[in-house]
Amino acid sequence: MSAQKQTGSLYRLQKIIASSGVCSRREAESLIAEGRVQVNGQTVIQMGYKVDPLCDTITVDGNPVKEEQKIYILLNKPRGYVTTLSDPQGRPIVSDLIKDIDARLFPVGRLDLDTEGALLMTNDGELGNYILHPKYEVKKTYVATVTGKPSGSSLQNLSSGILLEGRKTAPARLRILKQLKGKTRIEIIIHEGKKRQVRKMFQAIGHPVAHLKRTAYGQLTLGALAPGEYRTLSLRDLKKIFSGKIPFTIKNIPA
Ligand code: URA
Repeated sequence: MSAQKQTGSLYRLQKIIASSGVCSRREAESLIAEGRVQVNGQTVIQMGYKVDPLCDTITVDGNPVKEEQKIYILLNKPRGYVTTLSDPQGRPIVSDLIKDIDARLFPVGRLDLDTEGALLMTNDGELGNYILHPKYEVKKTYVATVTGKPSGSSLQNLSSGILLEGRKTAPARLRILKQLKGKTRIEIIIHEGKKRQVRKMFQAIGHPVAHLKRTAYGQLTLGALAPGEYRTLSLRDLKKIFSGKIPFTIKNIPA
């Protein structure tokens, strides 16, 4: 089949079929190989054939394929909720909190059971990968209430990087917010996301975390969301995560 006129970005046919939410990418490849997929009325069996979802008409067995609407929400995860889509132990899970959205949203990264705060949830795997990919260094801000009063030099050590399980942590930004009775409230900004990283970092300097809250992804802050509340995000919100420029194309989302 010859290439057709294009007006938008080109994507592999199997990716577009899979992103409509009807099947996995592998199943989409089988549909193509079986000759069940048409582009602008013509059957395509060439794997990797590129299409423009804005102007090409794609059908499977004659039924039109529509790109799934992408949804992005910011949830204030309460303590006691597991960041997973199902929990064999039957504990409350974050998706229990999303009531009025008819889409399978997955959390971007995780927060421990006892950690509260900002948790992005989306059905856009691409966005999730960009946020979690170390290359993009998306900053996450936490407010940790730690026991005791860490010395300036131990905070300096955390800031320049410490050895955790044989690997040095990347530089972090730390700021004391408040001295409390027997505890200190500290803001810490990191771009890594190792399991229980903030807790392990403070544990390593002898000041375990008593309470932990994530307050922002990049410049996207929780704002006035109470624990358990969420809001849908606009393109402007998503740009705040990446300090202005989203490293890939997002369609069908309010500005
Ligand atoms: N670091 C932690 O220790 N826990 C979290 O939930 C997130 C970051």
